[in-house]
Amino acid sequence: MISERSSLQEFIRNLLSATASAALYTITHQQVVWLIDAAFSRISHVLENVSEITIMTIENELVINGQPQERSLFLNRFAEIMQSRGISHIRLLAGLSRQELVELVAALSSRNEGGEAPSTEHLKLGCVDIASGSSTGTPMEGRSATDSSVSIPDMPKAELERFEEIYETVKRHKKLKITGIPGIVSGFVKAFHEDQDSLLAMASLRNTDKYTFTHSTNVCILNIAQAMSLGIEGQLLHDIGIAAMLHDIGKLFIPEEIITKKGKLNRREFSIMKQHPVLGAKHLLETPGVPRLAVTTAFEHHLKFNLSGYPAVQAGWLPNLCSQMTMISDFFDALRTRRSYREPLELSRIASMMQEISGTHLHPVLTQNFLRIIARFAIMTNSSAA
Ligand SMILES: [Fe+2]
Ligand SMILES: [Fe+2]
Repeated sequence: MISERSSLQEFIRNLLSATASAALYTITHQQVVWLIDAAFSRISHVLENVSEITIMTIENELVINGQPQERSLFLNRFAEIMQSRGISHIRLLAGLSRQELVELVAALSSRNEGGEAPSTEHLKLGCVDIASGSSTGTPMEGRSATDSSVSIPDMPKAELERFEEIYETVKRHKKLKITGIPGIVSGFVKAFHEDQDSLLAMASLRNTDKYTFTHSTNVCILNIAQAMSLGIEGQLLHDIGIAAMLHDIGKLFIPEEIITKKGKLNRREFSIMKQHPVLGAKHLLETPGVPRLAVTTAFEHHLKFNLSGYPAVQAGWLPNLCSQMTMISDFFDALRTRRSYREPLELSRIASMMQEISGTHLHPVLTQNFLRIIARFAIMTNSSAA
């Protein structure tokens, strides 16, 4: 059986050839028609099993459903074409018609560079310029920093309590039930659409006793903020949120005294602590209904951009984009949350620490994007503190 991954790569190969031929001849040329038919047949098969596919570019890399692709001539070329047309992401939804695919080829082959990218019912094109921070089609943008007078929506608060309950149950019975978590993430996503600044405010300066629980919800909120600012929506956005909620689930299998220890861990304690990504991934793998992305993220969220960190992986490993977002949210939250033994660090201090480890410890493009989000948030908190 052909895997989803190779079907998607073949789809992109057909789409690329169709785009090149359409630019050379016309969209109705026999060759283009044939290539669009081939691309349509491949993508239709994939969309029978998944509700959507997201293709995006981060720098020159092509990322499909959150997974950076190995470099190849045609994938790189496709990423270049997307970038030259100002398209940062393409979402293909179940129900996509052949005509919508024709429109995609037309947009990709258009000589009108930087022109409006059309979106239809099952085809969403988005443009995010990470370098300048300008964006279209993403709910994170277009709101002013002074727009934050709305109170924190009630719904996420109630949802948070539900999550706390789920978390406590897992802690006691060492068994996770995924039921409820997707609803909570949907609540966060909805709240973000309504009032992202207030929700971000929730992810800051919360107290410590239920550290792992609060930490997971903070990382979830920060991951959603990152993903939405990159134009990610729909199922992938939810899965990124769920992955964040569950990234540290492996800590439930680490002795309490190590988790709650106030000082620095000694060598033995740290080597036990370092097992939580593998323990978490293993547990999630055995839990029905958990998205695969959550398993990957639990496994990779302490794997640094330069592949140091833990667990050890082979050279050339390509960490998932969601894992790298989670590492950034995780780093930020660890320093920003008040603990019993220290005060939270200032946003500016955290930002400069992140700059220093960008490119080694943290993914550089995702870090810049995150700092942009945090800069807006800093303006917001300063104005509301008055
Ligand atoms: Fe962790
Ligand atoms: Fe964490």
